[in-house]
Amino acid sequence: GRESTVSITVVGASGDLAKKKIFPALFALYYEGFLPKHFTIFGYARSKMTDVELREMVSRTLNCRIDQRENCDAKMEEFLKRCFYHSGQYDSEAHFVELDKKLKQHEGSRISNRLYYLSIPPNIFLDVVKCTSLAASSENGWTRVIVEKPFGRDAESSAALTRGLKQYLHEDQIFRIDHYLGKELVENLSVLRFSNLVFEPLWSRQYIRNVQIIFSEDFGTEGRGGYFDSYGIIRDIMQNHLLQIVALFAMETPTSLEAEDIRNEKVKVLRSMKTLEIDDVVIGQYKSHTRGGVAYPGYTDDKTVPNDSLTPTFAAAALFINNARWDGVPFLMKAGKALHTKRAEIRVQFRHVPGNLYKKCFGTDLDRATNELVIRVQPDEAIYLKINNKIPGLGMRLDRSNLNLHYAARYSKEIPCAYERLLLDAIEGERRLFIRSDELDAAWALFTPLLKELEEKRIAPELYPYGSRGPVGAHYLAAKYNVRWGDLG
Ligand code: BG6
Repeated sequence: GRESTVSITVVGASGDLAKKKIFPALFALYYEGFLPKHFTIFGYARSKMTDVELREMVSRTLNCRIDQRENCDAKMEEFLKRCFYHSGQYDSEAHFVELDKKLKQHEGSRISNRLYYLSIPPNIFLDVVKCTSLAASSENGWTRVIVEKPFGRDAESSAALTRGLKQYLHEDQIFRIDHYLGKELVENLSVLRFSNLVFEPLWSRQYIRNVQIIFSEDFGTEGRGGYFDSYGIIRDIMQNHLLQIVALFAMETPTSLEAEDIRNEKVKVLRSMKTLEIDDVVIGQYKSHTRGGVAYPGYTDDKTVPNDSLTPTFAAAALFINNARWDGVPFLMKAGKALHTKRAEIRVQFRHVPGNLYKKCFGTDLDRATNELVIRVQPDEAIYLKINNKIPGLGMRLDRSNLNLHYAARYSKEIPCAYERLLLDAIEGERRLFIRSDELDAAWALFTPLLKELEEKRIAPELYPYGSRGPVGAHYLAAKYNVRWGDLG
């Protein structure tokens, strides 16, 4: 048959996301031979730039994980030759008509497939989608559009955005990214659970005491205060990244690994979750702190943040799933900026062994003796299982030891960045890791009443020092459900 070509247009080409993630990911895909034979990359933005200037800009961003590899310079040269720039307004159909002409020149007589990555603020998504649909969509192949959060601020605004997008696009043309779904260990969750007999049957209230999804960063919102202040940590991390992990973790077995089967199960479990209430959460905000002679700024010290801002930079929440598998099992989520460490992990605490023969070896703290499975999403990817073990010797003393799968030690190949996986899937039309609109609606439905209440009642966050472990309130919240956070050792 006829050959086809893929044109990838990064709209908002000079923005941070494009420079830090999208171009480097595209290059990594090219380097590894994953891009189709015929492809062209266009940067689109308002600023005036020549193709050569765009290439210079892109080449400065390609200091990615690839840059020490064999033949990297030559590959980079080849890649850059396939990158072009078009300057235009985001709401000008005429400017997209010009883009269309340029794309057509590259496509020639091949089948044209077009992927638009909207690396721009969501308030201009619709302008661009309108222009691309009317003036620059493929006439004989597919047209797909990648968008990334924020998808609105609540259920209503998100639904309005979806309605807007669907005026111009079919649901199957919209690729909503949650980049956590592109992370290796998140993708692996299903493999771990569904292909291991030692895990699959244990995946329920019968054996699991609680599940913890923990995200922490050791830096604040410096430089992004403007964006962050109108969203806050619940919308920035919890309603999407952490909730997606919970959905994947807790869903029923899908009929197959097809995208629709998986997404159907995710929507189902999201809809079985209890809507969050104010008593289910604790919020915090970091304040300035001096450590080792260095003064770390508080959240409101940022000039782009109002002095009296109550926006949470930390949140802990207890989520419950009302179904037969998970009834009564707390799913605790915790997300925070400016904490003591940078880490994302999933912790599964198992129940006690009934009638444990070794009970007396554990002293009074039996909870310490239960198995815990830890999936460290980042950094230093690992999966380990805490088990009880006899300390070698003639006495009978037990300790907790780890069965440890440490990725760096086990696999020599570097782990691709999430955007590589997701861009490749979008090019290939694999929708498994993208968020369907009904999933998005279900996720917002869970959080919207809580977010409204926090804002209407002007609930003050508990202050915590920059670089600390976050507000004590998170421990009280966990204690209410007899849970101890597992990340404390
Ligand atoms: C983004 C959030 O979605 O994820 C940021 O907007 C956060 O606030 C980032 O820093 C974390 O992503 P990663 O991949 O660095 O863990």
